[in-house]
Amino acid sequence: MTGASPPDTAFLQACWSQPADRVPVWFMRQAGRSLPEYRAIRGSGSILDAIADAELSTEITLQPVRRYGVDAAILFSDIVVPLHAIGFGVDVVPGVGPVIEQPFAGTADLQRIRPLEPDVDTPYVLETVRNLVGALDIPLIGFAGAPFTVASYAIEGRPSKNYARTKALMHADPDLWFALADRLADLAIASLRSQVNAGASAVQLFDSWAGQLGAADYRRFVLPASTKVFAGIADLGVPGIHFGVGTGEFLGDMAAAGADVIGVDWRISLAEARRRVPTGIALQGNLDPALLLAGWDVVADATRAVLASNAGHPGHIFNLGHGVFPEVDPGILEQVVALVHAEGRTDG
Ligand code: CP3
Repeated sequence: MTGASPPDTAFLQACWSQPADRVPVWFMRQAGRSLPEYRAIRGSGSILDAIADAELSTEITLQPVRRYGVDAAILFSDIVVPLHAIGFGVDVVPGVGPVIEQPFAGTADLQRIRPLEPDVDTPYVLETVRNLVGALDIPLIGFAGAPFTVASYAIEGRPSKNYARTKALMHADPDLWFALADRLADLAIASLRSQVNAGASAVQLFDSWAGQLGAADYRRFVLPASTKVFAGIADLGVPGIHFGVGTGEFLGDMAAAGADVIGVDWRISLAEARRRVPTGIALQGNLDPALLLAGWDVVADATRAVLASNAGHPGHIFNLGHGVFPEVDPGILEQVVALVHAEGRTDG
């Protein structure tokens, strides 16, 4: 895992839909509460304090790499970090998620979303990225929250079940919605550019809750700002992954935003997902994370089913359909990595 040797390329080859010597695998939320070594060093304060500590964040990012032998590392940070760093008033409450002191409610709140200056506002993120690039011999994935998902936190003020305020705002005042989404796109672009310039080899745009929208609303209200994000990083030449949960109905649109890799949750098969995105776009996914709690026989069968559904296509990055739950036994994830590496093939 030391950075002495040149970085391994299986993950990046799959991102570019090129054949590799194995099917690469990593897990969303691979760092975190399912790991005893994470719980041992994380402390009890806000995760935002842990993220602001570059040495701690570096170590937390490396923990799953050591344990699992995954093919990519993901920066330990959070999608609300830029919003927090510009002083919008965000905390991440343990067991709840992001909570906003004064939710976004009207035009006057736009000025609270000023541009991000990564060197000044999030120097600790860049220090963590630089530390990691020096320590890793696999690629580091940087990330940002997509405008819709970050807006949903800013507007709802806390995790939501129905996203009613967000949907009401976008339909009642489209001009305000587009102005908000545009500012959040700029935040994501500034953050992603700074992570890549510090050494990240790929980026993932998390639009975790976009699947709450119908396809027509996704196209009208979300696609323009997410397209702006991918356009804003295109010159950097690193692959872009576009992820959401429950987004099967508009996977093709998510690809059209300018992504190289599309995240697929467990609701549709990889074979079906491939019919919905253009040729040359890679897929990432799609084991149902809940199955990790069902015992190894179930997990092994489900892992093999994901590989079978991909049918040897070179553009496949094995992952879960969403993040690792805290209750998951890390030993199971270790076995999944070994199985994917032993049995996955990318022969087209
Ligand atoms: O391993 C990794 O994936 C990297 C670290 C990472 C975290 N958050 C750390 C974290 C990443 C990529 C994120 C992104 C993120 N944050 C998303 C998109 C990914 C997804 O899951 O869809 C979202 C929606 C958030 C917002 C957020 N932050 C939520 C919903 C929560 C969980 C609240 C809880 O306690 O259950 C957080 C907190 C958070 N971010 C934790 C971690 C490891 C857990 C809390 C902690 O350890 O303090």
